[in-house]
Amino acid sequence: IDIKSLRAITNGIITIDPGFKNTGSCESKITFLDGEKGILRHRGYAIEELTKKASFLEVAYLIIFGELPTKEQYVKWEKDIKHHSLLNEEMKNIIDGFPKKAHPMGMLSSLTSALTAFNPATVDITKEEQIYGAITKLMGKFPVIAAWAHSKNLGTPLNYADNSLDYIANIMQMMFRIPTEKYVMNPIAVRALDELLILHEDHEQNCSTSTVRIVGSSEAGLFASVSSGVSALWGRLHGGANQAVLEMLENIQKDGGDVEKYINKAKDKEDPFRLMGFGHRVYKNFDPRARIIKKAADELFADLGTNDPVLEIAKHLEEVALNDEYFAERKLYPNVDFYSGIIYRALGFPREMMTVMFAIGRLPGWIAQWKEMRLNGEPIGRPRQLYTGYALRKFKSFEER
Ligand code: ACO
Repeated sequence: IDIKSLRAITNGIITIDPGFKNTGSCESKITFLDGEKGILRHRGYAIEELTKKASFLEVAYLIIFGELPTKEQYVKWEKDIKHHSLLNEEMKNIIDGFPKKAHPMGMLSSLTSALTAFNPATVDITKEEQIYGAITKLMGKFPVIAAWAHSKNLGTPLNYADNSLDYIANIMQMMFRIPTEKYVMNPIAVRALDELLILHEDHEQNCSTSTVRIVGSSEAGLFASVSSGVSALWGRLHGGANQAVLEMLENIQKDGGDVEKYINKAKDKEDPFRLMGFGHRVYKNFDPRARIIKKAADELFADLGTNDPVLEIAKHLEEVALNDEYFAERKLYPNVDFYSGIIYRALGFPREMMTVMFAIGRLPGWIAQWKEMRLNGEPIGRPRQLYTGYALRKFKSFEER
């Protein structure tokens, strides 16, 4: 019997794989990840080398277009992104409509989707210049939206981009500059943020990226697809973990620094508490990003002369967990989010903004994966299921129910 006839009879063979633990959803040339060996590479380049030698925008270009940019390509890339760093003034009306305490991830997701009202909602995928236009627009506008969400929470005026600055320095000034005060840029903080955001740029088929690909597979546009990625990132089992880690560390501090108590809570199967920032679906030995981040946190704190007791609690917690059988047996190690929140805190970001910063870092990955999926002509994402509900039932009128 041929495969077509078999499909007609059985409707195909369905594999049930909750959480897609063993299911590959696509072929991809963007990111290589070996969870056993702790390897992460973008387009063949090791993450360790990229964080040391390249800038965020250089890595973004590499991830999205496949090669490191030449000097000329880089200058054009940066210029084109800066060209799109203005938001339509009507976007301010939408921001105004949010309550002051609205979570910035909710604002980021909504406002990214709102961009479709002011820009073409979809692109002709056969036209390279249209794809490039949508990409540079989103790269330019996304951090402005993020900064405006932050200002909304603070109740401070909305800052515009200063195109004399580079991408990362610009993010810092849009987030923190008070128009009536002189803003002094700290180059150490800018470099630390650059490195931190490079570490977040792409991570193959994680929850938010898969979401972007699946939404985009219906031919929804780039902005709508990325907006759904922001929502997927928000949850505390994914990008929201950095906010959750910091909340956990602060609670431990308030609780007198009793690290062992929280380790025991995480091990207790009756207690839903998990050690936030620990464990990863793919990394089962160590997360290479966590190693780089831990070092970056130490360097930043030394440079800034900060002495944050929360960093000490994090180190103690890591040490105890790494020597505990429960965590060893389950191969649970610190992930990228374990130390990132502490760095964001040192840079002056409130907890609610931490996942927003992750989103700014992940944007190039979402864009690259969306582009690859569309150019590959992948079919619409549409998983099957195993139906476990009722067999056919006879309808009951209101009187019979
Ligand atoms: N604390 C305590 N126990 C844990 C933790 C944790 N952080 N993570 C996993 N476990 C335990 C589970 O209870 C389970 O134990 P069991 O075998 O006795 O039932 C075992 O380890 C396997 O865990 P799963 O949940 O099956 O692993 P999965 O791959 O589905 O989940 C995840 C991975 C979501 C990252 C998980 O480890 C977790 O919840 N971690 C905390 C949240 C977090 O830090 N998320 C950020 C991930 S990185 C990122 O998205 C950027």
